[in-house]
Amino acid sequence: MRLIRAADYTDMSMKAAGIIAAMLTIKPGCVLGLATGETPLGLYRRLVDSCNHGEVDFSQAKAFNLDEYRGLEPGAEQSYRFFMWKNLFSKINIRTENLYIPDGMAGDPEAECSRYEAAIAGCGGIDLQLLGIGNNGHIGFNEPGDSFAVDTHLVDLSESTIDANSRFFGDREEVPKQAYTMGVGSIMRARKALLIVSGRQKAGIVRRAFFGGVSPDVPASILQLHSDFTLIGDEAALSFI
Ligand code: GLP
Repeated sequence: MRLIRAADYTDMSMKAAGIIAAMLTIKPGCVLGLATGETPLGLYRRLVDSCNHGEVDFSQAKAFNLDEYRGLEPGAEQSYRFFMWKNLFSKINIRTENLYIPDGMAGDPEAECSRYEAAIAGCGGIDLQLLGIGNNGHIGFNEPGDSFAVDTHLVDLSESTIDANSRFFGDREEVPKQAYTMGVGSIMRARKALLIVSGRQKAGIVRRAFFGGVSPDVPASILQLHSDFTLIGDEAALSFI
């Protein structure tokens, strides 16, 4: 694991943007795995700026999203498809046919999961997977449990995740109870993994996930076994290390 200490949120976002920009330069047709949540917003703003200034080029890149709620229409403001479109895809020169997000409205969840895994494999696998971490140690929507779920699957969201994500919905009752997520295996098969984390409220889970044992109780801890894993945390998130 490579640990990069950032001074604050802005510095974390800049450092992460630098890594993604470098990947796009080295391999213009790279396959990026992307994440939602508040943490990557600063990084996405930087990538948009760099793209507008001609410093990065997404025209040959492909992007796979980590996860999507089940049951939200793609146009719903809380869907991850909407989030990605609003915060990144509509503002950069990536081609719409190169964007992949699980279909939250799919009628057959098992078929949707297989389709998604096959699409990732069909593109040659993910070169760089960007991740955030949930308060309970989840990555994507891989929730704490008894075992690591390997491939893309449908999950029942934990009460703590529903609580945490209710900030994006008018009412807790509106938060979907299920979501599609890449599995821990899908994430670990990425050639590079990059997790960004900011804020003191994540300091405890950062210590458990990356400086404690590897266990499905803390799904992010599996990243300790990844051969090319970079953790970028700001001072507050790393304050217990
Ligand atoms: C959601 C997403 C995760 C994300 C997590 C943390 O549950 N499924 O991919 O990492 O939230 O979000 P935030 O960055 O807002 O703390």
